[in-house]
Amino acid sequence: MTRQAYVDGRFLPIAKARVAVEDRGYQFADGVYEVIKAVAGEPCDLDRHLARLERSLAALRIPVPMSMPALALVVREALARNPIRKAIVYLQVTRGVAPRNHLFPRDARPSLVITVRRAPFPSDRERAEGVAVLSLPDRRWGRCDIKSISLLANLLAKQEAAEAGCREAWLVDEAGRVTEGSASNAYIVDSEGRLVTHPLGPRILGGVTRSVILELAREAGIEVVERPFTLTEAKEAREAFLTSTTSLVLPVTRIDDRVVANGMPGGTTRRLARLYAERSGIPEAATGLRERRSIASCRG
Ligand SMILES: Cc1ncc(COP(=O)(O)O)c(C=O)c1O
Repeated sequence: MTRQAYVDGRFLPIAKARVAVEDRGYQFADGVYEVIKAVAGEPCDLDRHLARLERSLAALRIPVPMSMPALALVVREALARNPIRKAIVYLQVTRGVAPRNHLFPRDARPSLVITVRRAPFPSDRERAEGVAVLSLPDRRWGRCDIKSISLLANLLAKQEAAEAGCREAWLVDEAGRVTEGSASNAYIVDSEGRLVTHPLGPRILGGVTRSVILELAREAGIEVVERPFTLTEAKEAREAFLTSTTSLVLPVTRIDDRVVANGMPGGTTRRLARLYAERSGIPEAATGLRERRSIASCRG
């Protein structure tokens, strides 16, 4: 199968897809993006992703490239042209093409690129045993709530974590509190069984998965507390985990040199992982059983 990319109004084989050298995404990282999971061609939480895209664009004063219903149709068309059962859609909008100048161009049209590929979900082993994270200073800018393509601080943190044998970096602010991961949201379960995660605001990206997980937790009768937690609290927590569109719900069983609790994924984490995987139409992602038939139950 030849993967098809969408570039500014047309689909073409990905090897032939090109953007202009003066695209402001290329020169300034002047753009925003979304990563959307899809199962059997059905995008998960598409409305939430498009709502966040609209917020990111508005925050940077980049015009929408087309209406959100039209964009939803293009996403579905991209999935139809790339029939991958468990896929992720990458969607990027930049301010457009213009001679290099820091000031916003007057008449540039936003550029839209969409690609689809196989979802890099965590391995059975990672889900069953949990993963290690490395704590690092949060060196990002003051508007982490915008899903900007400017990700250098995130890349550096993730690379450092990987080189230390860790799956993710947990970013720590000047007061010693964990904001989020380099590409995921961070959670602990405290000694009272409460689910604790950093509140929304400019210090974190409001994850679509985060919004779903908090709903699922409340529906399941788990108390949710949206407050920052410290790195020390995390190391002493009963459970820890991270979430993202592609990581799903991933148990964290080691933070730096410290094993979390007994070193195994905790009960609340496993429960939320199961609820989330079922809701996403990939129940096998919770059980570790491969390719069990799934009921697509993802709400738009
Ligand atoms: C910095 C950051 N936080 C959180 C997330 C999780 O967001 P979502 O659940 O929408 O994938 C991501 C996803 O890429 C991210 O880059």
